[in-house]
Amino acid sequence: MDRIILAIETSCDETSAAIIKNGKIISNIISSQKIHSEYGGVIPEMASREHIKNISSIVKLSLSKAKIKKEKLNAIAYTKGPGLLGALMIGVSFAKGLAYALNIPTIAVNHIKAHIISNFIENENIKLPLLALIVSGGHTEIVILNKENKNFKTKVIGQTQDDALGEAFDKIAKILRIKYPGGPIVDKLAQKGNPNAFKFPDTNVKDLNMSFSGIKTAFMYFIKEKIKLNSKFIEDNLNDICASIQRKLIEMIINKLEKAIKTQRVNNIAICGGVAANSFLRKEMIRLQKKLDLNVYIPKFEYCTDNAAMIAKLADFKFQNQEFSNIKDIPNPRLKL
Ligand code: KG4
Ligand code: ZN
Repeated sequence: MDRIILAIETSCDETSAAIIKNGKIISNIISSQKIHSEYGGVIPEMASREHIKNISSIVKLSLSKAKIKKEKLNAIAYTKGPGLLGALMIGVSFAKGLAYALNIPTIAVNHIKAHIISNFIENENIKLPLLALIVSGGHTEIVILNKENKNFKTKVIGQTQDDALGEAFDKIAKILRIKYPGGPIVDKLAQKGNPNAFKFPDTNVKDLNMSFSGIKTAFMYFIKEKIKLNSKFIEDNLNDICASIQRKLIEMIINKLEKAIKTQRVNNIAICGGVAANSFLRKEMIRLQKKLDLNVYIPKFEYCTDNAAMIAKLADFKFQNQEFSNIKDIPNPRLKL
């Protein structure tokens, strides 16, 4: 019998639905909400309203793209958390309603764990233990992934004490008057700039933990001072500013990752989450791979930022373990790994 699962992701500002058949992703539809860019960040209530508007057509599209009739589904997976409560509610309710109508089980998925598992979409044979760097808009963590009784187990060995790396990119972009989400735009502009043009202080914390709010504040004062001397400082130097601050942010995270690799003595390394799409981070991972002789896994771009394919992949492992959720299961905005 085929194993066909529909997965729904609505934790933040992407409405996404994917179909996985016997472990292979056969459709992955992602609709990014544009509405938030005018406000410089995600407005939770608006995100929920957009999800309600989109979810039905996104699910239909994922089924038609996969050429699967809904009656053929064996289970429906949803993101249980972490995320915005109202946004999660839409996905969870839709998944439960459809599963009830079709008389099939539901599967609750942890969004952060799914980011790590996004690496398995194109590489079933990743060796464990895996050291994973999660860098998204809401999370920045270094995690060891292992298996125990067929279940994936995670252990957090380092994390940000304040802002996430994606959040730091977005806040820096905002100071540069770039629209939300600014991370990808900073990356694009940085490719035309000189990463050595400007220097920024070291503001990291001890051990494998990280901090990105200090560098953001230092950056804000740096820009204020420069603007006092030249009111067009940002416009005149935008590419160089982006390249220099991007280099600093990525160096901060790479230093921590290198330290983690050396102390944990693990040589299977993966990155995931929105910032894993960053071109400089991807290059640095290849450099690290050669320098330390590692097996490095980097997801395809469409599996870095929020997507239902990663939810489907983790759900597929759970399905094989018969790990289904109860009809009474509710979203948890602060769900831990
Ligand atoms: O994983 P994700 O889609 O959502 C969360 O779960 O948070 O990550 C979104 C974050 C945003 O902060 C966005 O600016 C950042 O990922 N991002 C990037 C790039 N692409 C997305 N940051 C730097 N460079 C990129 N190319
Ligand atoms: Zn995410």
